[in-house]
Amino acid sequence: MKALVYHGPGQKAWEDVPKPTLVSDTDAIVRVDAVTICGSDLHILKGDVPAVTDGRILGHEAVGTVEAVGNGVKTVKAGDRVLVSCITACGTCRFCREARYGQCLGGGGWILGHKIDGTQAEFVRVPFADTSTYPVPAGVADEDMLMLADILPTGYEVGVLNGVVRPGDVVAVVGAGPVGLAAIMGARLFSPSHIVAIDLSDSRLDAAKQFGADVTVNNSLEDADAIIAELTGGLGADVSIEAVGVPAAFEQAVRLARPGGHVANIGVHGEPVTLHLEDLWIRDLTITTGLVDTFTTPTLLRLLISHQLEASRFVTHHFTLDQFEEAYEVFANAADTGALKVVLTRS
Ligand SMILES: NC(=O)c1ccc[n+]([C@@H]2O[C@H](COP(=O)([O-])OP(=O)(O)OC[C@H]3O[C@@H](n4cnc5c(N)ncnc54)[C@H](O)[C@@H]3O)[C@@H](O)[C@H]2O)c1
Ligand SMILES: [Zn+2]
Ligand SMILES: [Zn+2]
Repeated sequence: MKALVYHGPGQKAWEDVPKPTLVSDTDAIVRVDAVTICGSDLHILKGDVPAVTDGRILGHEAVGTVEAVGNGVKTVKAGDRVLVSCITACGTCRFCREARYGQCLGGGGWILGHKIDGTQAEFVRVPFADTSTYPVPAGVADEDMLMLADILPTGYEVGVLNGVVRPGDVVAVVGAGPVGLAAIMGARLFSPSHIVAIDLSDSRLDAAKQFGADVTVNNSLEDADAIIAELTGGLGADVSIEAVGVPAAFEQAVRLARPGGHVANIGVHGEPVTLHLEDLWIRDLTITTGLVDTFTTPTLLRLLISHQLEASRFVTHHFTLDQFEEAYEVFANAADTGALKVVLTRS
């Protein structure tokens, strides 16, 4: 089969590799019907994620058709159409029993396209198939379902739920990439009074308006602190969400939160970040961090089916699997191409 294989920083190729086979009796082999690329894949290609080694097939999001299952798989069978989530769950360890699947101790967590071969391929081996896949309901489009593999649960769990967004809140979202936009879409469900999207790119801010932000701030031209202060009588945002992953964005998110407010960090940080406790100790802030667990996937799916989440808004570009290298180009140059999520399907 063909797959998108990582060959060290800056190197990748759509090339021939052996088709995966069942290794454990809880595995499924899934034929990939729709797959996408994540910002984390770009981090890997920059060499930021050293756990990913030469020869690894990338990708941690897919919708596909089950081709084979091991003898220990109970609820998934050949022919089933499933979502392959970015988080794999053994289902039995201490953290899985608490629905904290991202922290799985039994061999799950973020493993696809990271510690084992991933979904950017014609076929993928999915460990713990019963607890790591979700059936695609009739009538749900593959590409809408695909948005539940990573970005929608990430924005919702690590941004909106950790940030405890409540009706009437002023919510500031620093970073309006796919994950920040997912946080904006998720925050809308709680009827905040204002959602302020903050980014450096006007095209991303335009997207933020479409996703439900009513105020947009271009960080390179405008003063977000002053704009939030004006909206909140000088207090600051009730909830401030960081969806970038750079020190300046985290420090800004902290500055923007009101006393007693929440700061929810989503961004993956590769450098040390300063926490100004000399200013913050007195402000009663709650700061959260998190890796997505995907425990809200069933909830988000119900919202998708009832049209309260318009997942299709994320999809800006379509390709076939053999156009993987071109799809990476378009996705990596989002400022020029306007890409949010690219979807690749079988031709
Ligand atoms: N915690 C998790 O479980 C989890 C899961 C998925 C992704 N992530 C992380 O979430 C972050 C966002 O992901 P994404 O795919 O949306 O990334 P992205 O790179 O597409 O989007 C980031 C956005 O931030 C903007 N930006 C950059 N610097 C800024 C600044 N100083 N102020 C304001 N905006 C700025 C960029 O213009 C861009 O639109 C990344 O760090 C990603 O690795 C975390
Ligand atoms: Zn991802
Ligand atoms: Zn587990």
